[in-house]
Amino acid sequence: MNAIGSFVKTLAGFVDGLRFALHLHADSAFEHVADHRAGMAVGCRRLAGAIGDLDNLSLQFSAVQNWQSMREYGTNLLCATAQNHGRSQRRHSPSIHISPPIDDISPKGTTPKGPFTVFLLYHLNMAKRTNAFDLTLPLLDTEIPAYRMLYEALRAEILDGRLGPGARLPATRDLARQYQLSRGTIVNAFELLKSEGYLEGSIGSGTYVSKVLPDESFHVKAEGDRHPEIERRPRRRMSAYAKRVHLFPSLERRPSRAFRANVPALDLFPTGLWAQIAARRLRQVSTNLLLGCDPMGYRPLREAVADYVTTSRGVRCTTEQIAIVSGVQEALDLTARLVLNPGDRVCMENPGYVGAAMVFESIGAKISALAVDHEGMELRASGLRGARLVYVTPGHQFPLGISMSLPRRLQLLEWARKSGGLIFEDDYDSEYRYSGRPVPALQGLDRNGSMLFAGSFSKVLFPSLRLGYLVIPQDLVDYFAAAKSITTRHAQLLDQAVLCDFITEGHFGRHLRRMRGVYAERLSALLQSAREKLAGWLDISDVEAGLQTVGWLRRGITDESAARAAAARNVDVIPLSRYTRGRAAREGLQLGFAAVDPREIQRGVKELAQALKAAGSGS
Ligand SMILES: Cc1ncc(COP(=O)(O)O)c(C=O)c1O
Repeated sequence: MNAIGSFVKTLAGFVDGLRFALHLHADSAFEHVADHRAGMAVGCRRLAGAIGDLDNLSLQFSAVQNWQSMREYGTNLLCATAQNHGRSQRRHSPSIHISPPIDDISPKGTTPKGPFTVFLLYHLNMAKRTNAFDLTLPLLDTEIPAYRMLYEALRAEILDGRLGPGARLPATRDLARQYQLSRGTIVNAFELLKSEGYLEGSIGSGTYVSKVLPDESFHVKAEGDRHPEIERRPRRRMSAYAKRVHLFPSLERRPSRAFRANVPALDLFPTGLWAQIAARRLRQVSTNLLLGCDPMGYRPLREAVADYVTTSRGVRCTTEQIAIVSGVQEALDLTARLVLNPGDRVCMENPGYVGAAMVFESIGAKISALAVDHEGMELRASGLRGARLVYVTPGHQFPLGISMSLPRRLQLLEWARKSGGLIFEDDYDSEYRYSGRPVPALQGLDRNGSMLFAGSFSKVLFPSLRLGYLVIPQDLVDYFAAAKSITTRHAQLLDQAVLCDFITEGHFGRHLRRMRGVYAERLSALLQSAREKLAGWLDISDVEAGLQTVGWLRRGITDESAARAAAARNVDVIPLSRYTRGRAAREGLQLGFAAVDPREIQRGVKELAQALKAAGSGS
């Protein structure tokens, strides 16, 4: 395996949905890389023809950018599409083709010269996993021959979708052993299913459920006799919680373009270093690390976090108060379940973080949405009356970016002291401040144990890590520990150990400093470019912190129409009305800059200016 192969292999071990870029020259080719033990292969041979041959299905080549999005990266190429694998194709040679040919895809008819970038997006595929498990089939009818019984059972699994297209079946030898049948019986059943188009592949190299099922399956579906048992099923009685809980959309898995918000620059994360630390941890793993830990988390990581939040964020706490959670979201969920009952009142900022509102509503809490002004959340007595909990983002208000003034902070703490209410401080991205003095946590000012303080590694490292922390008032620690112990038991221990090393060996601080520099540069590119091209259309906020900023729309343009016009030009902006309960006081857009490189920022600003002109003329 060559260097690219080992790089890919290392990364793929840690990141599902991995995207990476290969920098190539127009006439360059690199060797075929394969590692079947690792279950992956990638190869680029002829750039004018097939650029990738994946000869192992455990990695699925799911997408390559089109020309449009390639331009966002300021690169010269490339347009490629995953070839649609029909049943006629050889199972083991899916390939990616450049389409259209290189010479045709330059926008103005010029032949692009290298260097250029090919973006490959990989997902670890389910197919590899399915054959690692026993396949449990309901083999009931002993009146019919065994091969027929197996055939019926497998066919039903396929038609009911329990065995999805592309799923790999267990080896005939394993099935024979599992069901105590002869291998010949299994082969006969497989052959029959193959002849009818349900399965494909060959004995010895793997048998798979066909990607395209025979017409008969659709016929069966249309007749309505596929799920007789489902149709007769009585309506389920669900809990009140089930009726209130809604799906929070997961992060879209696509490369960042201007102005994707709420994500860090994932392409700059030191994956190789992380891989080294993880590999070392795994090599030296102790049985304790395989066994589990306290519900509150891995003690050395809790110590490292306590160190970090006290030093860098001005939090006052002991290690005992730190719970390692799966991000701020879990901290919110635990808090809501432990301190709120249906009907309780929760105050939050308006506009504010929708993910928090969804948690509170799932519990049946009533939300009071308090307006935000230049000092942060407005704290009128009428707004706070009867509240059990206040959720707030004082360091860098989400989404407006304002940091809460000292008088407001003191006023909020005074409310908590007098009312016995709690304050949840969401410190989701306060590490990033590019000008002015650092803003310490509100928690640090509290002397009454009224504060829950939550932070996350999603924005500082990467979101799929799903690790964060919650600093809990001393008298509530046992409740949180108990709730954790009967739900997740504890956060993933190996990930906690890797993160702990990453922090204690100084990599975390270094990464943070480096990213601060990168993001500051990106923000200044946005501000400068916006001054030149968006003046009179969009006023960018002067808050210099976080991963995103806001722009206030002028000339009567609505944020939804601006977002639509921007999307038509491959620019993402989020209308602030999506974070607002009731009518928004002002029309504005959220613009992310951290995950967008300066060239892409410039393209984004140019396109956004055109988009706003178009939206303005239509309004
Ligand atoms: C304001 C705010 N709080 C909390 C979260 C959730 O963070 P985590 O990934 O740690 O659950 C997000 C995620 O985007 C956020 O924007």
